[in-house]
Amino acid sequence: MSPSNESLAIIDLGGQYCHMIARRLRDLGVRSDIREPETSAGDLASYAGIILSGGPRSVYEDDAPSVDEEILDLDVPVLGICYGHQLLAQIAGATVERRKGEYGPTTLTVLAEDALFRATPRQQTVWMSHSDVVTALPRGWEALAATSECTTAAIANLEARVFGVQFHPEVVHSEYGRAILRNFTESVCGVPVPESRESRVAALTRHVREVVGDRSVFFLVSGGVDSTVAFVLCSRAVGHDRVLGLYVDTGLMRKGETDELRQNLAAMGVADRVQVRDESARFLKALDGVIDPEEKRRIIGRLFVEVQSEALGELGIHEAKWVLGQGTIYPDTIESGGAQGRAALIKTHHNRCEEILQMLREGRVVEPIAELYKDEVREVGQELGLDARLTNRWPFPGPGLAIRCLGSGTEGPARPLAEPQLEGLEAVTLPLRSVGVQGDARTYREAAALRSPLDYERLRRISTSVCNEITTVNRVVAVVAGPDRPLEGLRVYRRGMTAERLETLREADFIVRRVLRETGLTDAVWQFPVVILPVGWDGGETIVLRPVCSEDGMTASVGELPEDVVRRMGEEILVLPSVELVVLDATSKPPGTIEWE
Ligand code: XMP
Repeated sequence: MSPSNESLAIIDLGGQYCHMIARRLRDLGVRSDIREPETSAGDLASYAGIILSGGPRSVYEDDAPSVDEEILDLDVPVLGICYGHQLLAQIAGATVERRKGEYGPTTLTVLAEDALFRATPRQQTVWMSHSDVVTALPRGWEALAATSECTTAAIANLEARVFGVQFHPEVVHSEYGRAILRNFTESVCGVPVPESRESRVAALTRHVREVVGDRSVFFLVSGGVDSTVAFVLCSRAVGHDRVLGLYVDTGLMRKGETDELRQNLAAMGVADRVQVRDESARFLKALDGVIDPEEKRRIIGRLFVEVQSEALGELGIHEAKWVLGQGTIYPDTIESGGAQGRAALIKTHHNRCEEILQMLREGRVVEPIAELYKDEVREVGQELGLDARLTNRWPFPGPGLAIRCLGSGTEGPARPLAEPQLEGLEAVTLPLRSVGVQGDARTYREAAALRSPLDYERLRRISTSVCNEITTVNRVVAVVAGPDRPLEGLRVYRRGMTAERLETLREADFIVRRVLRETGLTDAVWQFPVVILPVGWDGGETIVLRPVCSEDGMTASVGELPEDVVRRMGEEILVLPSVELVVLDATSKPPGTIEWE
């Protein structure tokens, strides 16, 4: 790798958003290389700038990742983000300590209009995900911005051109994040930002041809955007007759999904190259009674591999002549622990199970869109001429409804919550854990439920402060529809995944999609998972509505649908047998994830 003096180095300290820094620079048309923390200062000297990423560790731990401290003597501008910011401050002699966390939307006040914050407002929303804080400024440094909890939210040694920001400018939810990164790149590092960019499809086609060579490609397709775009890309790159697809009906799909897939395949002219196979009984049997979300994901990943090798066997296909095609996108890799294994495991995506990792090591997998984020995949789909109804489809996870059907291995009552952050509202915690992401690491914590008017501003405030203050909680839900009974009477029931529960979930999900279609609001949200919880007063179930706004799935805020629409969904779902309560998840990501699991 030979750095050019117009590219930046990004040091990967294990953050969930490290690769996204590269993506933001790519958006600006600026080249960057992701480098290991062990890279010597000498090897970094020719870059125009160096960015240190966030990471899940704490800088004061003995074996925490660090960088060659001589990078600060190179006379190359440096920007540290989150963990990277704390690391720079520690190297410069400041202390870093654990304090109260800040997760999700946070108001930043700019104190110094310097190069970083040029042309951005004094007050702006930034996305935080930390509990470690730089508690005092290093000598020669000054504070450029602060939040109510963090006086060192942005700091700099201006003379040395070294900057640190506690928040994440690389995520779309940081309002002026792009401007801040552009300011660093253009004004501080002096890298020119070009006017336009080359076509993505051309570069991806080259990549597919290189990896596939004279082999053919076998795909498991799901009908979603990612696998469809990857399939069509491969099909156009190596020829229609050398790409074959299999759609596995796992019994974990949404209502009407298989029919929709058939129509889409026909419209793209590839229906003759995709087989459909019903394996629902097999998937449901393997998942019977499984509660742990990671275990569910492993089982599903393994079954996909089994079905795929059986199909290859039946087709009489010799393995050496075939590669496996996958529509993996970057968030799948990073949340599964990252390409280098340095990032924290948030969840194991089905296309990253051990068997597939082995095939990847053997060069038997092609993943044309593995570097891209969802919105970039949509752009590629549009460039390929795919129908907008397909490219704009909401994301749907490979393991399907299995991860949205939560179970519990134990039974127990809700506990009343009376902390001041609840502003006097009736509230409880439910002894039912779900996956979240805080400080770049996975959490598995309880949910709080409350009764509140559907005032999004207030819900956002309460949800953020409850998850920041109560360390056993990573989500907050508000009641949308249900009887007027005390929340304290709710119980979590011992229950696994069953065909009946999946059917209830499928119907609830169908109602949500129908109401959105009828009210013309489908595109008002980025995605809308519907989840079933083994929670009720009389042995029933709770349905969670989870509308979100996002751009790439890496960060998200609540999709603020009109109250009458949300209530209508709630009332219609409440009519389903066994449903006792409908709630709305008001948590941003972080601290929640989009899916529950
Ligand atoms: P989370 O829940 O991590 O989800 O906030 C981020 C986005 O990824 C989708 N998702 C998946 N997509 N395979 C997929 O193809 C998976 O295993 C998977 N798990 C989550 C999720 O729906 C959301 O859009």
